Amino acid sequence: MLMRCVGARSRQEGIVDAFGVGLIGAGFMGKCHALAWTNVSAVFADAPNMRRAALCEIDEIVARRRASEFGFETSTADWRALISNPAVDVVSITAPNALHAPMAIAALEAGKHVWCEKPMAPSLAEAERMTAAARASGKVAILGYNYIQSPAIRYVAKLLKEGAIGRVTHFRAEMDEDYMADAEAPFSWRSEASAGYGALDDFAVHPMSLILSLLGSPSEVFGEMRKPYACRPDGGGRRAVENFDIATALLRMGDGAGGAIQVSRCAWGRKSRLQVQLFGARGAIVFDQERFNEVGVYIADGPVEHQGFRQVLMGPAHPPYERFIIAPGHQMGFNELKIVEAHELLNRIAGRPALTVDFETGLAIERAIHAIARSCKEGRWVSVP
Ligand SMILES: NC(=O)c1ccc[n+]([C@@H]2O[C@H](COP(=O)([O-])OP(=O)(O)OC[C@H]3O[C@@H](n4cnc5c(N)ncnc54)[C@H](O)[C@@H]3O)[C@@H](O)[C@H]2O)c1
Repeated sequence: MLMRCVGARSRQEGIVDAFGVGLIGAGFMGKCHALAWTNVSAVFADAPNMRRAALCEIDEIVARRRASEFGFETSTADWRALISNPAVDVVSITAPNALHAPMAIAALEAGKHVWCEKPMAPSLAEAERMTAAARASGKVAILGYNYIQSPAIRYVAKLLKEGAIGRVTHFRAEMDEDYMADAEAPFSWRSEASAGYGALDDFAVHPMSLILSLLGSPSEVFGEMRKPYACRPDGGGRRAVENFDIATALLRMGDGAGGAIQVSRCAWGRKSRLQVQLFGARGAIVFDQERFNEVGVYIADGPVEHQGFRQVLMGPAHPPYERFIIAPGHQMGFNELKIVEAHELLNRIAGRPALTVDFETGLAIERAIHAIARSCKEGRWVSVP
């Protein structure tokens, strides 16, 4: 006998099956959001079956093709039409940075929940307006800071809370990729001033999100930005690069700890090297996103001859790994972080405890990033408001 299973599970309070998703922008991150919405109810038994209601791309034909590939019911080339679609309850914004503010504000004003990719917006004023819109709407608005969702980072947070390495004295964080390392890599929206400072808000926001969630906000920063290539191929000609592919910052924390962030979009050989090293009074912790199913832990106790880093491999003992696969060491992937993030957003909507970077916290990240940019311009330490 065939049985209908849809709706048979107990769901997050206040969210019913067929909760509608609208997705704006179906490029790299758009596909990650689409996969997350498709799979969240299969991974988390308390999540509703999401209705993939509408997809928007800049070109109508592309929109139709992507909607069909990702299982969305309707497509449009007009993001305002997607936002006013009554079947849409939550809007995923995975369009270029310069569009985040107008799209997020319009969605919140229309009474929709928002999952917007990082960074918030190129300017602090826009990020502030987004936060004000979220506050006024009473809706849930979060940002795509997926790395805080990793079982490894949750394990690092637990180790710090338990005092495993003692008081953190200093840290170093890097985010390196090489997708713009080739001087002949084509000009894209990422090199436009309208996208922001460049590597600083493309990349540095990620390590900053980890520092904020693990250690708190920096009180003062000193920054430096570099442009390794002045222009890039664009159509038949060349176009001047309008922002910076490399950024470095020193951070002073309120509790006396200090650290450094360096990020680069031109680091040959590095593909997604978000590395964080935390040094404490009794040991050290090392995490690298390129090997994000493991955490290096060094505890300075016992006989010196036996001391050394232990590599702890993630498994069901490191939630939410067990939601994906029951076997240790079989490894999670990037898209699964997005499924966890979608679930945390649904938890937040349902009024349950949730681990998210909401617009308020996102604004704190933006304040630190803009302070770094200001320091770079003025050549001095700048306080983070
Ligand atoms: N969280 C992460 O780890 C992560 C990783 C990469 C990118 N991002 C962020 O995701 C966002 C998108 O980046 P991406 O790498 O997917 O870029 P992308 O260029 O691959 O995709 C952006 C898509 O938006 C579409 N688009 C542009 N204008 C539009 C409009 N007016 N209406 C509808 N669609 C429109 C483009 O056609 C494109 O398909 C950026 O803000 C980026 O910073 C986050």
